[in-house]
Amino acid sequence: MDTIQITDVAPRDGLQNQPIHLGADAKLALIERLADAGVQSIEATSFVSPKAVPQMADAGEIVPRLIARLPELRTSVLVPNLKGLERAHAAGAKEIAVVLSATETMNRKNINMGLNEALRVCEQTLAQAQALGLRTRAYVAVAFDCPFEGETPLATILNLATRMHAAGADEIVIADTIGSASPGQVSARLAALRDVVPLEQLAVHLHDTRGLGAANAWAALEAGVRRFDASVGGIGGCPFAPGAAGNLATEDLVLMAERSGFSTGISLDGLLDAVDFAEAQLQRPLGGRSAAWLRRQRTKRSEV
Ligand code: COA
Ligand code: ZN
Repeated sequence: MDTIQITDVAPRDGLQNQPIHLGADAKLALIERLADAGVQSIEATSFVSPKAVPQMADAGEIVPRLIARLPELRTSVLVPNLKGLERAHAAGAKEIAVVLSATETMNRKNINMGLNEALRVCEQTLAQAQALGLRTRAYVAVAFDCPFEGETPLATILNLATRMHAAGADEIVIADTIGSASPGQVSARLAALRDVVPLEQLAVHLHDTRGLGAANAWAALEAGVRRFDASVGGIGGCPFAPGAAGNLATEDLVLMAERSGFSTGISLDGLLDAVDFAEAQLQRPLGGRSAAWLRRQRTKRSEV
């Protein structure tokens, strides 16, 4: 069966933007529920400035506790610079992700660097991470539209993806940071990206702002991509990218993929338990577009 690999980014992309800040115990409990559901890869946290993102200030505590509890789980952490890498390595991280936005303004807003400096810092961070024996991912953010500069030129995306691949990133993650892409654009951009990065090293990271997250994931599947980021309950959004609503929900992606003959290794009931938990913690209704239907099926099953 055709297998897809899902990285659940709720603990990082999901929680970084929430008005309620979860403590380390609650974050670890959420990650345990994801692992129980069969999720094999997560983005656990980010080693960024606690002034920029106070929700992630406990990264140095999360990583060692997580590795001790769930040593088999593939755990990635986001790092914006060499200082972040140093902190991540000291905490025992085995996999890191760097983030490169495709426009000048988005890099400035997100990491206070211009595009050329961001590129150089990403390349240095990847080189240093490889020297430390870490697995690496590189995000190409705002890979469709930038909230400040509009549509991002395909030539720029291809150039940045080429540079990240040449810098040795194991995975290049094409991110629709504000959720503005449509399936035709996803097909067209991935068709071009496949020529510069081997398909098995390409991943997509989608947001569901306009309700097209699943359709975009389907376009990526048809383009041959088998690596996806998604966020349980659809929690997510970048604090520095206006208009970035929740991520493509992991339950929506798993439902679509499994019903279409792909294997994810993830249980939908297990994901619902994680959604319930996140909802109680964040004190608001959560769940992707399929969650209401999935919950009705669960209730029906419990009644027989
Ligand atoms: N982790 C923790 N602290 C860090 C850090 C990191 N990775 N990088 C820098 N710092 C600290 C510096 O030590 C310095 O501390 P001090 O004021 O106590 O001396 C302070 O932050 C400023 O350092 P500077 O290098 O001037 O950073 P900056 O103010 O230009 O901010 C970033 C740059 C990258 C650290 C900051 O913009 C950031 O963390 N951005 C992340 C945004 C994010 O997470 N976005 C969502 C995910 S894509
Ligand atoms: Zn995102």
